Amino acid sequence: EVIDADGLIALPGFVDLHTHLREPGREDTETIATGSAAAALGGYTAVFAMANTDPVADNAVVVEHVWRRGREVGLVDVHPVGAVTVGLGGERLAELGTMARSAAGVRIFSDDGHCVFDPLIMRRALEYSRALGGVIAQHAEEPRLTVGAQAHEGEAAARLGLAGWPAVAEESIVARDCLLAQHVGARLHICHVSTAGTADVLRWARRRPADVAGRTAEALLSAEVTPHHLLLTDERLASYDPVNKVNPPLRTGSDVDALRTALAEGVIDCVATDHAPHAAQDKDCEWAAARPGMLGLQTALSIVAATMVETGLLDWRGVARVMSERPAEIAGLPDQGRPLAVGEPANLVLVDPAARWTVRAEELASIAANTPYEGMELPARVVTTIFRGRVTAHEGKVQD
Ligand code: NCD
Ligand code: ZN
Ligand code: ZN
Repeated sequence: EVIDADGLIALPGFVDLHTHLREPGREDTETIATGSAAAALGGYTAVFAMANTDPVADNAVVVEHVWRRGREVGLVDVHPVGAVTVGLGGERLAELGTMARSAAGVRIFSDDGHCVFDPLIMRRALEYSRALGGVIAQHAEEPRLTVGAQAHEGEAAARLGLAGWPAVAEESIVARDCLLAQHVGARLHICHVSTAGTADVLRWARRRPADVAGRTAEALLSAEVTPHHLLLTDERLASYDPVNKVNPPLRTGSDVDALRTALAEGVIDCVATDHAPHAAQDKDCEWAAARPGMLGLQTALSIVAATMVETGLLDWRGVARVMSERPAEIAGLPDQGRPLAVGEPANLVLVDPAARWTVRAEELASIAANTPYEGMELPARVVTTIFRGRVTAHEGKVQD
C-alpha cells in the first residue's frame, strides 16, 4: 500500500518519557492495550510506563509483566519505569538492580506521584542508579510544603478559596537534587517542570562548573515539560471543573511563557505527556475529592504545534528534537529519535501541519475521558505512525 505524504512532515517517532498506563491495578481507566493505541494515534513509537501502578512496579515481576504485555500488544515500545522506593513509600530503596537486570532492562527509576524527598534516600538512589547506568526521574515536590494544597498558590487560588501550592515546593527540591546529582555524578531527570523559577534553577544548575571527576551538570541533568503546562493556566480553575486538577498544578501565564522559552532554549529538554487517565467518579466530583491528572497522548503534538510552532518558538526540526531526539537520548534508546540507517525498520510519524481538528473525548482511544481540551480546535494532526517498519496508526485508526 502506498502512503500519500504530499504536504506532510516526516518526523522520527515520538518518545514519551512519562505515561501512566494504569496496568496493573486500574484497568477500568486505561490498559497497556488502550494506552498503546492512544500512543500510536498520537505519533509515539516508545513510551515509558510510570511505576505508580497497583501493585507498584518496584520489583522485577511487575516490570517484566508490563514489558511483556507491551510486546504482546505490539503498537509501541512500552518501557516500564521502576519505582525508586518500595511501594513508593519513600522509606526504603527498591532493588533497582534486579529491575535493571530483568528482561525489561529498566533504566529510568521514579516514584512519580510522590517525591523522593528524604535527602539520604535520594543520594543513595542516585548512587545506585549511577552504578546501573540509569536515570532517576524526580517528581519534584516538597510534600511538607504542599499539605492540603489544591491549586497553584497565587491570585486565582486565593480568589477561588483553594488552598495554595507554592512554586517553592517544586523549586527547592529541584535545586537540591541538581546539586546532589552533580555531587554524586549521577543522571537526574526532572519530571513535569511547571514554574518559571524551576526553569531559572535549571539554567543556573546547567552552568555550574564540572566537579573533580569532570562531570558537568549539563551532562547529568535533563528536564521535561508537559503539553498542558505549556498551554493552560490557573485561570481555568474558575469553572471548578476537576478536569483541570493536575499535579503539579496549572500555574500562571508568566510561568507558561517562561516554560515555552526554556523549552525553545533547551533549558528544558523535552515534552513528556504525563498522560494520567482517571475514572469518571474520580473527576466528576468536588474539586477537593478529585484525583489530579489529565489525558495527553493524543493531543500532545497539537498542543506543541499551538504553543511552540505557531508562536515561532520552534520549527519542525525543533519539534523533532523535543518530542523524539532528546527523550530518546535521555532514555538511552539507540533505535529511536533519529534518522534511519539504510535497511533499518522505521520509527516514523507523518504530520499534517495544516490540519485542524476538534478534540472529542469519546473519540480518543483511552478508556478514561479526562481531557481538558474537550471541544477545543487544535492545529496539526498525526496522519500516520510507523513503528518498526509497520503502520500502527493511519488517519485516526489503529492498524493492528
Ligand atoms: C499522576 C497520576 O495520576 O498518576 N497525576 C498527575 O496529576 N500528574 C501522578 C503524577 O505524575 O504526579
Ligand atoms: Zn508527577
Ligand atoms: Zn506522572
